[in-house]
Amino acid sequence: MSAGPAGKLVQSVLGLRNNTKVGGYIGLLHGHDLPVTLDINELLQKHVCILAKTGGGKSYMSGDIIEEMMKRDVTTMIIDPHGEYGAMRDMGKVGEPRFGVVPRGYADRIREFSVLKSEDPNIRPLRFTLKALEARELLELTRTNDVRSYLTTLKKAIDALREHQEIYSLRDLIDVLLSLETDNKSAVLINELEYLDEIGIFATLGNKVSELVEKGKTTIINLKGVPPDIQELIVRRLSTIMFEMRKQDAVPPMMMVIEEAHNYCPQVGTALSSKALSTIASEGRKFGLGLTVISQRPAKIDKNVLSQCGTQIILKVTNPNDVKAISASVEGLTAGMMDEVQTMPIGMAMVIGAGIQTPLLVDIRPRESRHGGTGVKVISDD
Ligand SMILES: Nc1ncnc2c1ncn2[C@@H]1O[C@H](COP(=O)(O)OP(=O)(O)O)[C@@H](O)[C@H]1O
Ligand SMILES: [Mg+2]
Repeated sequence: MSAGPAGKLVQSVLGLRNNTKVGGYIGLLHGHDLPVTLDINELLQKHVCILAKTGGGKSYMSGDIIEEMMKRDVTTMIIDPHGEYGAMRDMGKVGEPRFGVVPRGYADRIREFSVLKSEDPNIRPLRFTLKALEARELLELTRTNDVRSYLTTLKKAIDALREHQEIYSLRDLIDVLLSLETDNKSAVLINELEYLDEIGIFATLGNKVSELVEKGKTTIINLKGVPPDIQELIVRRLSTIMFEMRKQDAVPPMMMVIEEAHNYCPQVGTALSSKALSTIASEGRKFGLGLTVISQRPAKIDKNVLSQCGTQIILKVTNPNDVKAISASVEGLTAGMMDEVQTMPIGMAMVIGAGIQTPLLVDIRPRESRHGGTGVKVISDD
């Protein structure tokens, strides 16, 4: 797709660059059929949000961007609470010819993990190594918010255990706590550790970071069916590890995609993962760790996280509180544009940022790979 002379003018006026090396193709400029590309470097460095009502096409759109990142060997980790991104292994349907998209699957790029047992041979177990965790880190994986008051007890138990054995299980740790003098604190601790033990997210040998993240590959963390608090702690652990590893340059620069972000970094209250995600939102860019937050409830995402997103992709939004939250977090949106957002059809997006100077209306390109979302929502959250 190349633009004619009139198209070239529109392109240059809007600041649309067509650099296929860094520019990920997401669709056609509405009314002009000019390709719109987003600068992948900029997405990684300045974070992205994708906002729309349920069924508005957020996951579909994010799949487009992930395809573009896969093509350019950008390392990505997707937090996938509905287990829908694994479908990207498969080839998608043929779309409208004007987009010029050739269907393909990405099986060779994708690795998928789950903490739950899966019949699917493509899904590998996600396990953290217990012995690698200090008392504080282990406490951060529990539902206790008051880390300090349990620290001494847990440290004592871990030290006692480490004196005798290098490798130990949660069960061993619980047994030591049971053998120590029992008070209220150790009872709470034991309860929390029992809960973690039941989920089975720890193993003597957990996944190595090099197994979870490989340069140029997309890692899907499939959280389907996992209890919400365990989801949060997995997101916290992975976000923390990725941030620390990026600081040391021990993993490649990468993008973390967070679906249903309002659950992991809410505006009201906190999730176990809140702090880790807000750290990435505010400091990730310094270390080459990009964040894509996706949500159907912009009003419910931590404003500090949302306001750090340099690129906003807005699809149809109708809830008045969400419309307000978007206008508050995105600079340069006029009342007219906000009206537009409420009436846009599925398949159209308003894109702001990523090296584009004015908000653009984009006809979103068809997916190359299969979209896993069902499109049928039993419960609406609007
Ligand atoms: N750009 C698009 N082109 C064609 N169909 C789309 C597009 N975006 C969304 N859809 C359809 O709408 C349904 C819901 O999209 P999805 O991305 O799953 O919504 P959500 O915003 O809830 O993540 C999809 O299953 C797909 O059928
Ligand atoms: Mg979705």
